[in-house]
Amino acid sequence: MPLKMLFAFIQPKFIAAMVLSGLVTVVVLYLSILDDTHLNTHLTQNTRTRPVKTMFWYKPNITTEMYLLSAYYDDRPTIDPMTRPAIRIIGMAHKDEVDKEKLSCLVTYEGRETPVLQAITPTDIGIGGWRHGKFFREYIFVCGSLRVKDKNATFVSVVDQTYLTQTNWESHEQVRVPVRYPRREETMDFGCCVSLAYWKFDPYRLVEWVELHRLWGVKEINIYGSMVEDTTERVFLYYHQQGILTYTRVPRPITEDGEIMFHIMATPVINDCMYKNMYRYKKIVVTDLDEMIVPRGNLMTYHDMLAAIENETESSHPYRMYNFRNVYYFSELPQNTSQPEYALTLRQNHHLRELTAHGTATKSISDPMACNNLHNHYCLKIPKMLEKTPHSIQVHEKFGLNQHYKKCHFDKYRKAYNLPSCKEALKNYTYDPTMLKFKKKMLASLKKPLKDLQLIKHVS
Ligand SMILES: *[C@@H]1O[C@H](CO)[C@@H](O)[C@H](O)[C@H]1NC(C)=O
Ligand SMILES: *[C@@H]1O[C@H](CO)[C@@H](O)[C@H](O)[C@H]1NC(C)=O
Ligand SMILES: *[C@@H]1O[C@H](CO)[C@@H](O)[C@H](O)[C@H]1NC(C)=O
Ligand SMILES: *[C@@H]1O[C@H](CO)[C@@H](O)[C@H](O)[C@H]1NC(C)=O
Ligand SMILES: *[C@@H]1O[C@H](CO)[C@@H](O)[C@H](O)[C@H]1NC(C)=O
Repeated sequence: MPLKMLFAFIQPKFIAAMVLSGLVTVVVLYLSILDDTHLNTHLTQNTRTRPVKTMFWYKPNITTEMYLLSAYYDDRPTIDPMTRPAIRIIGMAHKDEVDKEKLSCLVTYEGRETPVLQAITPTDIGIGGWRHGKFFREYIFVCGSLRVKDKNATFVSVVDQTYLTQTNWESHEQVRVPVRYPRREETMDFGCCVSLAYWKFDPYRLVEWVELHRLWGVKEINIYGSMVEDTTERVFLYYHQQGILTYTRVPRPITEDGEIMFHIMATPVINDCMYKNMYRYKKIVVTDLDEMIVPRGNLMTYHDMLAAIENETESSHPYRMYNFRNVYYFSELPQNTSQPEYALTLRQNHHLRELTAHGTATKSISDPMACNNLHNHYCLKIPKMLEKTPHSIQVHEKFGLNQHYKKCHFDKYRKAYNLPSCKEALKNYTYDPTMLKFKKKMLASLKKPLKDLQLIKHVS
């Protein structure tokens, strides 16, 4: 499908997709398997071995209220030559002011005294939200193509018209964001970028989620956490020490109650993950912690799944991306209580018979060489050069589905999205043994982490 068609198809459902994705309902309750589920205190001390990074937001001293997470140097051969090389600045800002003010960037170069001023193009990466009476939107500010090409950019500042029209603006201190150069070594087939984790998650489900992704061939998982509860964070820290997971703490830029701020932080962290790893991950798996893209039929790994999809797809695009349909495994549906309590995906083997509509709550495996703006559901913006041929494959359900484990949320969004009530929806479900093919391997790999984390005493 050409990009324009894909967009026409997806845009009206954009908000529905956001809401239905489970972004809103990432908080899950604990299973009470054992009373003594206290975690080892030595795990916290171990964090010394591989330090956990905390990313703070930069707040430019300008009229436009803006918070910047990071800036990346982008010289991918696949991006539009008109914007190459570019610096992509990831953050959020007051939308009205971004629309009204003309933004510029000031780039500082190694071995050059004065910074270079050039125009910025703001590009969206999310649907935004209200904070203290202002509508904030998630953006990647594109600064490029860079006018100075023979020197390394070291810092970038964002300034607006109000700032530039002051007398002697050059002498005012700006907030400088360091320009990062993405690593190129240690490449791998699959890396995983997860949108923001906050508050509390079921630790058993986290362990299962990580181990399954590892079985499927994901070599690195990135989790950004904000205000994460202790037990949940210790699971992240445990895997951070193992190396399979990179955990990064991100405090909120604005401290206010409620979840809106976390939602606005979600796509900036996903894009930080993509740009940081764009030369290392051949494909990026994007899912939330309450869902997973599962290879179906006799397919056991992501590698085999993509090979099978390719075998049946006539696409010549060099950087293909894959969109998977969503299916709900609501927790109200019957469970197999003979399966181990710590393996939810084995117990929960009924899902709604009907798959979620095409384009809604879709999850994807994206290609960082072909994506400029990554979203929680799929790549939002593709470089112009790569738009000409179809790049996104709508994956048939026989190859893979996004399995989504949560309580039914239809009642809350019934009117807005024309959904059936939970009572109605939960009547029509089906048995699905897909996860049982992973049972042996999965239970074997769950043992050590569950024991190490003292989540369980004996694993049979
Ligand atoms: C912020 O900018 C204003 C005007 O440009 C300047 O007067 C003020 O000193 C700056 N504040 C800081 C903390 O840099
Ligand atoms: C830019 O930085 C890289 C790595 O730090 C270095 O190898 C390269 O020579 C630098 N280029 C210039 C033009 O300074
Ligand atoms: C490739 O597709 C053909 C038919 O389209 C099928 O017969 C064959 O088994 C497939 N091979 C693989 C490896 O999936
Ligand atoms: C439930 O789990 C048990 C234990 O693994 C298994 O023997 C049984 O076949 C399962 N039942 C169904 C309907 O899957
Ligand atoms: C249940 O879902 C299936 C698959 O979408 C559909 O064909 C069927 O009509 C539904 N049954 C009821 C009773 O809604």
